Amino acid sequence: MNLLHFVLLVTYLLLAPAAALAADAVRGRQLAQEHCGGCHAVGAGERREVADASPFSAIGRKYGFDPSALAAAILGPHPRMNFAPAPADAADLAAYIAALGR
Ligand code: HEC
Repeated sequence: MNLLHFVLLVTYLLLAPAAALAADAVRGRQLAQEHCGGCHAVGAGERREVADASPFSAIGRKYGFDPSALAAAILGPHPRMNFAPAPADAADLAAYIAALGR
């Protein structure tokens, strides 16, 4: 790991929890409708025809509606997604998905 990667990693580790604390579920829902709704059912009772993209309510259940686990899953490799979320966006999306479990 070179110095730049180390600095980026440390910055990420310092900022990610702060972003998770400040997560905004309302903004997360807007992001989801804008960027994810074409493939995933983003609402609680919604259905989509694309069979292989799980509804967000099912993804939430899979990760125990835990915002940090969800944010990690959203930031993880997602080959067919046409949107690369920033950590703060992933935190907002995770807050929205976690709220589907309530
Ligand atoms: C072009 C279609 C498409 C878009 C747009 C899309 N997804 Fe997905 N997503 C999929 C498919 C298909 C899968 C399952 C296979 C895979 O992982 O590639 C998936 C899987 C996932 C998973 C993993 C679920 C699991 O079981 O672990 C998460 C989390 C996820 N998507 C979140 C998002 C978020 C958040 C957005 C919007 C920012 C988004 N996706 C946009 C098609 C899409």
